[in-house]
Amino acid sequence: MSITSPTRSQETHLGGTVHGSSDAPRQDARWGDLERLRSSHPMMDAVIEEVRGRRIRVGDHWLADFASCNYLGFDLHPAVIDSVEQELRRWGTHPSWSRLLGSPRLYGDIEEELTALLGAPDSLLLPTISLIHLSVIPALAGQGAVLVDARAHKTIYEGCVMARGAGATLRRVRADDPEDLEKVLASVPPGMSRLFCMDGVNSMTGNAPDLATYARICREYDALLYVDDAHGFGVIGESPSPEAPYGKRGNSIVRYLGETYDNLVLVGGFSKSYSSLLAFLALPTGLKNHLKVAAAPYLYSGPSPTASLATVLAGFRVNELEGDQIRLDLSAKTARVLDRIHELGLFTLNTSGLPIIELPLGEEDDIDAVGRFLFERGIYVTLAAYPLVPRSEVGFRIQITAANGDDEIDQLNEVLGELAERFTMQRRPSPA
Ligand SMILES: Cc1ncc(COP(=O)(O)O)c(C=O)c1O
Repeated sequence: MSITSPTRSQETHLGGTVHGSSDAPRQDARWGDLERLRSSHPMMDAVIEEVRGRRIRVGDHWLADFASCNYLGFDLHPAVIDSVEQELRRWGTHPSWSRLLGSPRLYGDIEEELTALLGAPDSLLLPTISLIHLSVIPALAGQGAVLVDARAHKTIYEGCVMARGAGATLRRVRADDPEDLEKVLASVPPGMSRLFCMDGVNSMTGNAPDLATYARICREYDALLYVDDAHGFGVIGESPSPEAPYGKRGNSIVRYLGETYDNLVLVGGFSKSYSSLLAFLALPTGLKNHLKVAAAPYLYSGPSPTASLATVLAGFRVNELEGDQIRLDLSAKTARVLDRIHELGLFTLNTSGLPIIELPLGEEDDIDAVGRFLFERGIYVTLAAYPLVPRSEVGFRIQITAANGDDEIDQLNEVLGELAERFTMQRRPSPA
């Protein structure tokens, strides 16, 4: 299934698509729907009082959490939790030097293991993906052309806007439309450098792009392909098969789709599957060394806390020993939810079977009531309001993690049935 690029009036501002050429003041009114929900809805801007596994307490209300990005459940894994204290005693709570000044050995250990896991030429760690986009996209774009996929994550788009501010030319490419990429690349004046930025596994649709085609086109036009696989790293990996639908080792989209790192920079994070505050670029060593002086967070930002560095290293161990089994369990749990959604005849943009499932509503204005219904029935999800998604996709996002119990999946599936009876949901087109 292809996802059509929204029209200008549908263009969105966060997890999904990016708007056109003009900036903030014009769009203030567009945040109205989201602000109303933020200020009044129990499932937004909530205070979580307590967690027990994947059950969370908001006020006196216990809910099954389907809004967590901790896909592998490492946040609750005893070996990961136990890894922290020893490193805190060794390094203190926080290294405090910027990386250019000095990095605890933990950084080198992580980069070495990560590079081997990804099968990449090299890797560079910085605190968050958002910081990477804001600093690295402008450094890579220079005075050249920076092209951004219309469904790219808002943080990528912001990096591209920074690049434009520093002298790059910003162009938008229609989502899921490699031909449009080719057209835009062909229109870039000869001699101008080209950078194309897009998501790996999309944070709202749950689908991976046709990376082989995008990579081929970028190589043909000598463009650097910059891919943010925040949601794929840890979940998908090499050699997918019917027996292991998410693949092995969780080593991200390039390996999952059998691609190479030629002309490609992969960005990923540990804040989702590895439940730690750290992010990375997979890139050639020459570029890594350049970014050490050209990307502001390497020079000026405080580093990730010791606990995050420790939990990443422990996460590697757990991934090696148990990761493939955890991914199988995650794929089976996700399949149970998707089967239920299909049985109910509901539409979702997810065609990948990956654990991000957005369900668009039939009536956009029902979002408040649908969210309250889910909350009352003990299900916690991400409300996908406009402008987080195009108006035609307003609904809610379910994320499955390996730490969700089968009882929670049962509960979710039951509540989805009740929801489908009570509210107008978008329906799956019947097969022709
Ligand atoms: C695709 C994508 N990129 C980047 C980010 C931000 O990552 P970080 O928290 O490391 O800045 C997110 C977070 O939701 C995301 O979904």
